[in-house]
Parts: sequence; C-alpha cells; structure tokens
Amino acid sequence: MCGIIGVAGADDATSAVLLEGLSNLEYRGYDSAGIAVGGDEVEVEKKEGELSALKRALAGRTLDGAVGIGHTRWSTHGPPSDENAHPHTDESGRVAVVHNGIIENYRALRDELEAKGVSFSSETDTEVVPHLIAEALDAGADPESAFRRAVERLEGSYALAAVVAGTDAIFAARHDSPLVLGIGDGAHYLASDIPAFLERTRDVVYLDEGEFAVLTPGDWRVEDELGEPVEKEVETVEWTAEQTGKSGYDHFMLKEIHEQPKALRQCLRGRVDELEGRITVEELDGLDAPEEVHFLACGTSYHAARYGALLLQEAGVHATAFLSSEYATSLPPIARDTLVVGITQSGETADTLSALRKARGRGVETVALTNVVGSTVARECDHVMYIRAGPEIGVAATKTFSSQLVGLNLFVEQLLADEPRNRDVRELVSALRDLPGQVQEVLDESRADEVVEEFMGAKSFFFIGRGVHYPVALEGALKFKEITYEHAEGFAAGELKHGPLALVTEETPVFALVTGDGENARKTIGNVKEVEARGAPVVVVTDGESDAERYADSVLEIPATHERTVPILANVQLQLVAYYMARRLGRAIDKPRNLAKSVTVE
Ligand code: F6R
Repeated sequence: MCGIIGVAGADDATSAVLLEGLSNLEYRGYDSAGIAVGGDEVEVEKKEGELSALKRALAGRTLDGAVGIGHTRWSTHGPPSDENAHPHTDESGRVAVVHNGIIENYRALRDELEAKGVSFSSETDTEVVPHLIAEALDAGADPESAFRRAVERLEGSYALAAVVAGTDAIFAARHDSPLVLGIGDGAHYLASDIPAFLERTRDVVYLDEGEFAVLTPGDWRVEDELGEPVEKEVETVEWTAEQTGKSGYDHFMLKEIHEQPKALRQCLRGRVDELEGRITVEELDGLDAPEEVHFLACGTSYHAARYGALLLQEAGVHATAFLSSEYATSLPPIARDTLVVGITQSGETADTLSALRKARGRGVETVALTNVVGSTVARECDHVMYIRAGPEIGVAATKTFSSQLVGLNLFVEQLLADEPRNRDVRELVSALRDLPGQVQEVLDESRADEVVEEFMGAKSFFFIGRGVHYPVALEGALKFKEITYEHAEGFAAGELKHGPLALVTEETPVFALVTGDGENARKTIGNVKEVEARGAPVVVVTDGESDAERYADSVLEIPATHERTVPILANVQLQLVAYYMARRLGRAIDKPRNLAKSVTVE
C-alpha cells in the first residue's frame, strides 16, 4: 500500500534523500507523494500523481534540514488529490505526519477536534494525528510526549512518523503496519520497506508491535508502549535491489499471492464485529435490499460476480452476474428496483464502465466494488465499497479476487442487515475471522509445485466445480491459461457429460474442487469417477471431509471452513498451480503476452 521514508542527519540534501527513497518505493503503486523537512521550521511539498509531479512542484529547490519524512500514498480515505496527499500538518504547520494503515476511530476524533474549532484541510483519516499532536503541544507537552499522547488515542493500524518544528528528531510508532529503521554512519533512516534506504545502509532494526522510535542525526532509540527502553538487534540484509522490489519473491504475482492474508485482514478491518456477531459496511449505510441485483464485471471480476450472485440467490434475492461487454451490447430488461453493482478491481475497465453507464441511463442505483480509491467507477457510481487489497502489480489478478469474494460476503450481509430474514451471521463472522490464518496455512503447506511437475507436456487442463466452486473452477482455468499459455477450461462439474467429456483423455489433467461431505461433494465425486474412467489424471482440491482423495492421483489440501469461505481457500491452491506451472515453463508471469492490467478500451 502506501510507503514511508524518513531520514535524520542526511549527508546529501534532505529532500534529495527523501525523493530517492520515494522513488525506491514506487513499485508498491501510489497515486500521490509528498515530503516534509524539519528543523527550526517544517516545510512541506506534496502533489497528486507521480513523483515527477512532486519534483516539478519543487521546481529544482532542495529542502534541507536535520530531519525529513516522505510518503507515497495509495488512497483509502478520500480520492487522490494534493490535499489528501501526505504529509499532513496541523493548522499552524508546526507538525507534519506520514501514515500507513487505517485509523478506525478517526471519525470520532475528527468530530471531537472540529467541535473544539480545529479546521481540517483533507478528507483523510491521518489528518487527526497532527491536530492531536498540536493539541498536546499547546497543553504544554514536549514533542515526544505529545506524539505519544496522540498515538494513545488511535485505534486501527498505523506506521506513523512525525516531525515537529524546533526539534531535530523523527518520532515513529508501529501497530499492525511495518516500520524498519536503517542505521547508517551519522545518518539514520526509517521506512515502511527496506528498499527505500537500501542504497544508503544495509544495517536495519525491525520495529515490533506497539514500539516507538526516536531518530536524531546522532542517535536512535526504541521504546515500548510504557516508554521503557527496548534493546534491539541490528541486522544486516543481503538482498539485491531487484529482489527488494518484490520483497524477495521472484515475481510480483507470487508476492501478491502471499500478501493475501494481509489483504483480507485489511478488507475485514472495522467491518466485522465478532462480539456482536455483526457485519457492517459503513460506506453502504442506508442502502436497502432491492428486489433484484445485476452484477457487471469482466474476467476474474466476473467470476467474483458469479460468486456474489450465488450468495444473494441463496438468501432469496434475484441476482444475476453479467459479462459487462454483453450487458452493454444487449441491455436486458432492468426493473425499477434493481441495484446494479459493477465489480472491477482497477475501477477503469471500459466494458464495465460502459455497462454501468447504460444501466444508470435507466435510472437505477449503482454500486462500485473496487480496489482503487478515486477511480472512474468510484466517481461515477452512487455508492462505493472498497476491497482494500492494496496495489496489485502482476497482471494476473490474485489478491484482488480473494478480497472481492470476502468483500461480496460483507456487501451481501450489509444489504440484508435490516431484512426480516433473521440471518444468523455468527458462523460466517467466525469463518471470516479465521480466513487470513487459513490462507496462510495453505500458502505454507501447498504441494502445488510438486503436483504440476507431473503434468509438463499435457495437452489441456480442465477445472471442475459445483455451486460456489463453479466460479472458482472458471477462475482456476483463466489464471492457468493467462500465465502458462496452455489450453485450460473451467466447467460446471455436472456439465462435463453434456459435451466436454469428449475431450477428456490421459493427456488432460482434471482439477476437481470437492469440499464438505454433502450432496455437492457426492455428485462431484461422481464426476471425478467419470473422468478417471477415461484415464485422465485427477487432482482433487479438498478439505478432507469426503472420500474424494480415494479417486485422486494427487491431493491439494485446504482446511475445512464455512461453505462461503471454502472457495477462497480452494482458489489459493489453484493460483499456486498456475504460478508454478508458468514458472516451470519460463513464462513472463508478471506481464503475460497480449494482456494489460487495466483494460481501458471496449
Ligand atoms: C485476469 C484479470 C482480468 C481482469 C479483467 C477485469 O487475471 O486480471 O481478467 O479481471 O480485465 O479487470 P478489472 O477487475 O480491473 O475490471
């Protein structure tokens, strides 16, 4: 997501070191950038857009001072703009703050500060922090205590760094969002990711949960929540610059697959109340359950749309998933009380925008489910829900798909919250809580790489599933063909015998999704037997609840969970299947031929 760099005692001009750090963080994706240089005064420059826009705004000026902080922002609260870019300052401009994460109680803090007459200049959650620090300074606190007092008021996740005029120090704190210190010779650094300062030092100190740090040109120290000093180990990293952009992974796609536990936690944060067993999506407050829902999407997002439609149908709501391009081509009848939901991770897909515009032309309400704050879809729809997966750089959608599926569960429960259907979401809430950990388990234990080794040279690859696993079978095949360039198809398991079975031979491995021990599992096992009888090698992705393994040549295991979350785990195995096959074939995994990350033509 966002990136942070800080420096105390730079040997070059402070602004030059900050810009270099921000440029090293560009790979994370961002939509605005800014720096603050401190000393006697605090000077800030920030700009929407690329780093080049910030450089133009500096117009060749270098800002020099004992300390400085910089930030690349990837919007979560408020669209990309100069005002919403970090650093944020208090009204007097004495304090500047950069922040990664989400401050969940910012609304209450903002209301409290505004009631005291504080005026805000951005829409961000972050801006409460400099105002809280300024309030504590006004009450007589020294800068370090003022920073601590402000942090004590925060709920949510944060990696924070602040500078205060008249103080040659950077104050930093971490909670659920990483921060690392770089220990140089006479200069000290701070960053969300090591690549930010790697050219300047390889000696690092990782901050742990709840720790505070103070960096000055000549010194650095770390303290715990109570202000007690913490002895930290200085470690030396041995990475290359190429590796660091991908945090040590060979490809962005693999990195993003591994980021899924974090992405899902971000999606759930503040929306799922475990104690009350309640799900709320604040930004959709006031949206009532409609008579009918149309989901519009393309590619991977269309598979998420099919899953979303199944969830609503199960709850008794008429729901249909449409391919955006087809919807725009032959607009179906749209009843008055239809809610039209565009699902697009980029928020810029031309087919989906065009279909949504046509639906709006019929006077119905629209919702955007997207990952990119301030994207066209977010600006054009009546309501927006963000999936908060963080930037995705690999062309193949991975973490955004998982976040879409989790987001759709939240969307459906928010929509039906006031329905007299007496929905009990406690089991779902607990499954969603466990999901990030279970995804991690799949990532840690997957045998996908070994399994695909058997199938080098196979003719075609088939993926089959039923019910909620059907969209995952389609997605498994899409991911596979997209990055391996091998032929793959996804089928509804029950459809095989109506035609595709003619293609099945010893040269066509079949991946079957079988979970639970109910009717769906039994019937899918029947389909597995059909392909096995034709000599096809079978891989089952299973939670072990049925005896599907008996009919399989290989097994990819997933933990047992709620039937609404189990497809997300199954899909992680299929992402790894596609990835490892493509790697063995030496494909351009992050940029597959002929494909683009954001498809802005119809
Ligand atoms: C496949 C993939 C594409 C996109 C599709 C829609 O891995 O990424 O199929 O899902 O182009 O993109 P968005 O979600 O940005 O509308």
